[in-house]
Amino acid sequence: MPLRAVVYTSERSEGVTGEQAFRLAADAERFNRLAGVTGVLLSDGQRFLQYFEGPEDGVSAVYARVQAS
Ligand SMILES: Cc1cc2nc3c(=O)[nH]c(=O)nc-3n(C[C@H](O)[C@H](O)[C@H](O)COP(=O)(O)O)c2cc1C
Repeated sequence: MPLRAVVYTSERSEGVTGEQAFRLAADAERFNRLAGVTGVLLSDGQRFLQYFEGPEDGVSAVYARVQAS
């Protein structure tokens, strides 16, 4: 089965603490697992770099959630 992968960088919004943003992302781990998606999230509390990979439908679903957040 072909794998898809996404890598992106983003910055935390004003009014959201680094802790809150990281927790939001970490909580999404359960969704990723159900979608067959795995990867890594790096943060310095202000900026994020995330890489994830998996089947096309799972990666599309996760990326849509990231874009909506
Ligand atoms: C930096 C960052 C990384 C994120 N990574 C993921 C992710 O890997 N998987 C995912 O499903 N959502 C990810 N999200 C999206 C949010 O976690 C998601 O919108 C949140 O869990 C709320 O979803 P709900 O309102 O549908 O419950 C990320 C959000 C941010 C800000």
